[in-house]
Amino acid sequence: MQTIAASLLAADFACLEQEVAKVANADYLHVDVMDGQFVPNISFGPPVIASIAKITPIPLHVHLMVEEPIRLLDSIFASGEGQIDCITVHAEACKHLHRTLQAIKDRGIKAGVALNPATSVTGLEHVTELLDRVLVMTVNPGFGGQQFLLEMVPKIKATHQLLSSLGVSKEIGVDGGIDLETGPLVVEAGASFLIAGSAIFGADEPDRVIEQLRSIVV
Ligand code: DX5
Ligand code: ZN
Repeated sequence: MQTIAASLLAADFACLEQEVAKVANADYLHVDVMDGQFVPNISFGPPVIASIAKITPIPLHVHLMVEEPIRLLDSIFASGEGQIDCITVHAEACKHLHRTLQAIKDRGIKAGVALNPATSVTGLEHVTELLDRVLVMTVNPGFGGQQFLLEMVPKIKATHQLLSSLGVSKEIGVDGGIDLETGPLVVEAGASFLIAGSAIFGADEPDRVIEQLRSIVV
């Protein structure tokens, strides 16, 4: 069984409450925060996260696609009203990744590190103690609805191997272009935390797609 996070970026922001209700069976709501600097797009920030936290009990997985995310941790954490389960930052965006992960863990929540497609997983070797989840980006971050990068499948396997060789067990997540076709590929490669936006919100029956992604067997 996979853990499924529905990426809100693909929802219709004009009616967030109805959209969130459609994915009530997701394990997490994936909340993409973008700053127009780290990625060439701007999405939303703490005020919108605060509104989302009010309308759903689903735990939030916050994906910070921002430069120096340590600056925003206080405001993001406060906006989640106790509903933020995990904050994931990009390794490439942090001058001090270790300090940033420590600052997330100090808040008593899970910490994740996302890796852009060009970033090798080997850089995480020295921060595994502070990590709960490695997020292998399967598209270049910044936009929903992009095509899955097939060349990330070996990277998921490499991540799995690295973590096993270090004797640590961490969740491997994937984000970008995940649907019922690419899902089996990433699950077979070792991913167990699947984030999907378009495939879920673009479906006639989002709850069914969530169930199908969750029960992929390889
Ligand atoms: C991309 C975001 C993703 C995005 C995924 O930068 O981090 O979470 O919403 O969207 P799909 O599933 O449509 O590729
Ligand atoms: Zn994301």
